Amino acid sequence: MTEVPTNHNSRELYNRLLTYVKPHWNKFLAVIVAMVIYAGTETGLAALMKPLIDGSFVNQDSEIIKLIPLLLIGLFLIRGLANFVTTYGLGWIARNVIKNLRSEMFERLLVLPASFFDQSTSGQLMSKLLYDVEQVANATTDAILTLIRDSLTIIGLIVWMIYLNGMLSLIILLTVPLIGLLVYKVSSRFRTISKNIQDSMGDVSHISSEMIEGHREVKTFGSQNYENQRFEQANQKNRRQSMKMVATDAISQPIIQLITVLGLSGVIYLATLPEMLETISAGSFISFITAMFMILTPLKRLTKINSKLQRGISASESIFNLIDEQAEIDNGTKTLKDTRGEIEYKNVNFSYNNDNNLALEKISFHAEPGQTIAFVGHSGSGKTTLVSLLSRFYPSTSGNIKVDGIDINELTLASLRKQISLVNQQVVLFNDTIANNIAYGHEQHVSNDQIIAAAKAAHAWEFIERLPEGLATQVGQNGVLLSGGQRQRLAIARALLRDAPILILDEATASLDSEAERHIQSALETLITNRTTLVIAHRLSTIEKADLIVVMHNGHIMETGTHRELLAKNQHYAELHRLQFQEEAVNL
Ligand SMILES: Nc1ncnc2c1ncn2[C@@H]1O[C@H](COP(=O)(O)OP(=O)(O)OP(=O)(O)O)[C@@H](O)[C@H]1O
Ligand SMILES: [Mg+2]
Repeated sequence: MTEVPTNHNSRELYNRLLTYVKPHWNKFLAVIVAMVIYAGTETGLAALMKPLIDGSFVNQDSEIIKLIPLLLIGLFLIRGLANFVTTYGLGWIARNVIKNLRSEMFERLLVLPASFFDQSTSGQLMSKLLYDVEQVANATTDAILTLIRDSLTIIGLIVWMIYLNGMLSLIILLTVPLIGLLVYKVSSRFRTISKNIQDSMGDVSHISSEMIEGHREVKTFGSQNYENQRFEQANQKNRRQSMKMVATDAISQPIIQLITVLGLSGVIYLATLPEMLETISAGSFISFITAMFMILTPLKRLTKINSKLQRGISASESIFNLIDEQAEIDNGTKTLKDTRGEIEYKNVNFSYNNDNNLALEKISFHAEPGQTIAFVGHSGSGKTTLVSLLSRFYPSTSGNIKVDGIDINELTLASLRKQISLVNQQVVLFNDTIANNIAYGHEQHVSNDQIIAAAKAAHAWEFIERLPEGLATQVGQNGVLLSGGQRQRLAIARALLRDAPILILDEATASLDSEAERHIQSALETLITNRTTLVIAHRLSTIEKADLIVVMHNGHIMETGTHRELLAKNQHYAELHRLQFQEEAVNL
């Protein structure tokens, strides 16, 4: 969570939160009315004690005896109704605000640039979406409830007590602030401890999730003891902090009760003084005591309101920060249609953090429609970066990139990306059926025949056919139920069905067994035909067939040419080729 916002900031955040409640103002009004009524019935309840005692028990007044049960039932009916309207109404407003905030956050996430995702972990973002939103709604709901209902209840009860007996009320007016102060102190200690508990909980969850996800590594590296010790520490810290909470709670309850009893004893002492006894009836006395006890609960809540509000406000700051993030720049106006697929990079420079640290420098090359350009080079030489500029995942710092002769910045993002199919190094599958994964991103309905055709062309049909549920098979989270090679073939089928004129292919480095390799090889060849392809190539066969090979090193282009030309030159490519592909060449 972010740090506590300043006052000025709090006000702004608070006002901004209110704009989410505004559309529901009529329901909010009903809730306020219900809260006022509820507070009134609380005072009424204390007030009812007076005629109950005086009329029924002391004076044996038969009229009143009959009336009291009816009054009591009536009072609770009204109170119940008011309570329902308050709880339901506030809940309704809160759930709607939560839903709207979540939608806004998700919609924003959809348009945020790649650089934003580079800088945040998915855990942080998820926790904003899941917890911060709930936190805001719960905290503000509670705060509103306390601010209006509880304060009105307290005021009502105090007014009633003063009406009953001004002298006795003095004692209350002395005790109440004392109890308030104590509860305030205790709750601020609670806050500190509960932050520590949250932190230690974070450690517990972080260590255990690392272990669960990395269970293979833990086993392989034999690090069970190490993990166990780490966990033990966090677990122990969590226990200690929780015990502090328990201790504070255990000690504060008796103290509060003691202060209350001191006040009560004072009231009883004063009330039983001879001169007082004459002025106060039994009913008034009991009613007074009742009111005194009834003040305690709302009072406790009132003293906690500030911390609650603070928590809500700082959660809302974290949410609004996300909603205010700058979306991807999409200023282009032109749209591409029937793209031929000509690509040109001209003197392109790029740095990830807009500093002097260039990840790409003076990149220029040209691809005719339908050609295949292969990028080779050591790990970290900038290959993935280079191709990701074409989809405008990142803006180039200088130079230009053109598709069909049009600068990509002049195009709308949607129309540019529609021309590009992407098959990534790590295939991303969605937790859905195979059919839906292949047809992913198609707005119109895609027939089963089309999906099967794509699967066949991608050599994926062989394994899909053998699955008991075929195309309807669920692939599991990120396709865990499939093998690496099967996942790749699904990605190829997806790209085939998308049928975009430009293809970006980041070949997987992991080598597969020769059977799977052969399948993927033929699938890729089908995919590459008739498309302009930028391929980050690790397979010798892909490289040999490329129209142009671009050799990258440290963000620069070292050499370009065909396989033959570059071998004949006997420089960088020849060297790289000797190092990386010799074995493969022997095996082929
Ligand atoms: N999101 C990012 N933010 C900051 N720097 C990055 C980011 N992605 C890559 N880099 C840096 O840019 C350089 C080029 O990385 P890139 O991923 O383009 O290499 P690559 O040639 O694709 O390597 P590989 O063959 O291992 O996939 C590296 O130095 C890397 O550290
Ligand atoms: Mg890469």
